[in-house]
Amino acid sequence: MSDQFQNSPEMFLNLNVRGLPQSATLAINEISQKLEKSGRHIYKLGLGQSPFPVPDPVVQELRANAHRKLYLPVKGLPELRDSVANYYHRTQRLECIGEDVLIGPGSKELMFLLQLVYYGDLVIPTPSWVSYAPQANIIGRHVRWLATDPNNDWRLTSDELEVLCKEDPGRPRIVILNYPANPTGRTYPEDELKSLANVARKNRVVLLSDEIYGELHHEGKHISIARFYPEGTIVSGGLSKWCGAGGWRLGTFVFPKSLHWLMDAMAVVASETFTSTSAPIQYAAVRAFHGGIQIERYLWNSRRILKALGDHIANKLKTSDIKVSCPQGAFYLFPDFKKYKKQLHKRKILTSDMLCDRLIQEAGVAILPGTVFGRESSELTARLSYVDFDGTRALAASEQIPPEKILDEQFLTHYCGHTLDAIDELINWIQK
Ligand SMILES: Cc1ncc(COP(=O)(O)O)c(C=O)c1O
Repeated sequence: MSDQFQNSPEMFLNLNVRGLPQSATLAINEISQKLEKSGRHIYKLGLGQSPFPVPDPVVQELRANAHRKLYLPVKGLPELRDSVANYYHRTQRLECIGEDVLIGPGSKELMFLLQLVYYGDLVIPTPSWVSYAPQANIIGRHVRWLATDPNNDWRLTSDELEVLCKEDPGRPRIVILNYPANPTGRTYPEDELKSLANVARKNRVVLLSDEIYGELHHEGKHISIARFYPEGTIVSGGLSKWCGAGGWRLGTFVFPKSLHWLMDAMAVVASETFTSTSAPIQYAAVRAFHGGIQIERYLWNSRRILKALGDHIANKLKTSDIKVSCPQGAFYLFPDFKKYKKQLHKRKILTSDMLCDRLIQEAGVAILPGTVFGRESSELTARLSYVDFDGTRALAASEQIPPEKILDEQFLTHYCGHTLDAIDELINWIQK
């Protein structure tokens, strides 16, 4: 027997691809679990999962379709592709039809396929979601980071995009935009989307618009850049965040006609890898994208809770001299602890990685360092996701409160108290 088969199973857990460790979000989860096993209480503000249940009509539909056992077409169930196209037409006025839609087992997988079949550079504004760059690295694609300005709320400006395009005009590139954003919770105003769209059009840049948190815009006012640059934008979405169904694994891409060749190439790879997305999930997803009053109510209450909690936490952090913007969508905050730099340096905490490591070890609060979102390690930023509460309970309670009422501190303490405790622990620790 060769050596590798005699090694312990743990050895295989440490194997990595092209020098990449496992994803940072999963790693922090593992540290949390280890500490918990040793009897410590851990506040889990590291992982970005929706706290809310899947809406009941969608669950019912899954139940009713559990018997579906055949492979489906590689690009997706035709009814679902139509339902997704209708959804984007209804919510964003996009001129798309079912044939423009590709279904996959999570938008993450679709992003990977896109990078595999596209030959150009990947442009990633920072801070940005943890998996874009590792995917490019696995495939061997060139990544071009574009640092954004904290004073511009970490948003890419059209001037910054223009400068990049002028460096090497005509170079094929995909620029990823993600809004409402993971990790900042911020989004683009309409005029900035228009300016970015103009620069992208002028320079024939392909945009991958990651709108997985679109429905979790806290005011329900998400605008897709595809409205202003329909011919060059691929819109990415799925059930994971707004429908509370991350584990169901269903993602969607909507392509303009001019980029159907990319969709077709992705479908070829899909046919040789995952074949098609789970059949019962696709049938249930038809119901989710169809919408209706029950889903609207679910979304309205989800947003109301996230807004109240996100604003409350952001204000608490601000009054403790931690720089942060109030979130506009999703369920993340991206605080900057730079005002505490001196004190932290005295405690031998020099980087955001050290900060997060010491925070979980000493205060039991799990958050993710800015480095995993592409920021410099000396910048003391981190992502905090405020979803460590029982979303089913909170949602049921919010539904009983009249719509004109704002959810007050009493509500938050009662239903999201655990997350608020975590913030107190964090503030106490940083001010030590
Ligand atoms: C910004 C962003 N995009 C995409 C994804 C992937 O979502 P999924 O693969 O579940 O569709 C996530 C998940 O955390 C995310 O935060």
